Amino acid sequence: MADTYKKLVATTFTPQFGEAAEIVEEELPDPASNEVLIKNKYAAVNATDVNITAGRYEPDAELPLDLGVEAAGIVADTGEDVSYLDRGDAVITSTLGGGYREYNVERAGNTIQVPTATPEALSIVVSGLTASIALEEVGEMSQDETVLVTAAAGGTGHYAVQLAKIAGNHVIGTCSTDEKVELLSSIGCDRPINYETEEVGAVLATEYEDGIDLIYEGVGGPLFDTCVGALAQHGRLLSIGYVSEYQEGPETVSRERVYTSLIPKSASIRGVFLPHFREHFSAHTKKLMRLQQEGTLEVFVDDAQFEGIESIFDAVEYLHRGNNQGKLVVRFPD
Ligand SMILES: NC(=O)c1ccc[n+]([C@@H]2O[C@H](COP(=O)([O-])OP(=O)(O)OC[C@H]3O[C@@H](n4cnc5c(N)ncnc54)[C@H](OP(=O)(O)O)[C@@H]3O)[C@@H](O)[C@H]2O)c1
Repeated sequence: MADTYKKLVATTFTPQFGEAAEIVEEELPDPASNEVLIKNKYAAVNATDVNITAGRYEPDAELPLDLGVEAAGIVADTGEDVSYLDRGDAVITSTLGGGYREYNVERAGNTIQVPTATPEALSIVVSGLTASIALEEVGEMSQDETVLVTAAAGGTGHYAVQLAKIAGNHVIGTCSTDEKVELLSSIGCDRPINYETEEVGAVLATEYEDGIDLIYEGVGGPLFDTCVGALAQHGRLLSIGYVSEYQEGPETVSRERVYTSLIPKSASIRGVFLPHFREHFSAHTKKLMRLQQEGTLEVFVDDAQFEGIESIFDAVEYLHRGNNQGKLVVRFPD
């Protein structure tokens, strides 16, 4: 084992990831009695990485701030009181600051043991959980409804599409390329919309006159407005993010207040932030892993090869240019 390891830290607060982040090298720590030392193999790249570097995640965040969230890795050492994990075990972690680093020390109780440390397993703990918990616990997802997913071919979107289909719904998904349209069709999306070639509002108005019952919305900006306008009576819009505004900051808009859109339809907008739903993590993780093992749920990982801590800067940009299909990960060399 090496004596030192590298990690990414933010040294200034800005949503421009490349300006905020810096690689630092430090000594490998020893795990405390209830901790494990993990050699990370894969780290998830998330749209929200730029919110973390902007200091929007935790109001009291201090610099330098460790970056990255979920990682899949192998236990390299265990504290003396850790009895149920051994060296060589594969684990997933999901802690703010625990992702973009070659090694991580984590409380053993905060790890999820998995058969193998794969990008697919990694993607379940945030991307999959957000979709599953938002749709079921917040969105009251039913069956025979019309469900719209934005950024549908992305990390969390492709889970939402499949979970809505598995539940027995008609699913519409927005994306930006014909390759993504193909991916969406392959996972059962009934009406993929490439928003570069079709106008989303026009498609919804023409083909879905009764409106959309449930919307999983993570893009924000004008697409969010279109979605609010397209809600059906009793429609629910799950606002999970607004990636289109993360880098430049939220636009100030002036229009009628949102109740004028919602009340006439008894519709609602429901914000969702995954850390507020910890009590549901275990049940939904088990369900997602079961669906994946059965082959009912396909987990897509983007095939771009980002390797090593230095590649994270490019990986974050790649995601924010809208290039990724499925979950984007960075691999750390053995
Ligand atoms: N609330 C929560 O707890 C929670 C948890 C996880 C994720 N999220 C949110 O879910 C959304 C998706 O996150 P993710 O990490 O899974 O990312 P992702 O979907 O894998 O990647 C982002 C995707 O957004 C789409 N996009 C549309 N307009 C964009 C724009 N103007 N700029 C950049 N991307 C744009 C792009 O695909 P297309 O353009 O092809 O659609 C891009 O591939 C984000 O808003 C994120 O914050 C929220």
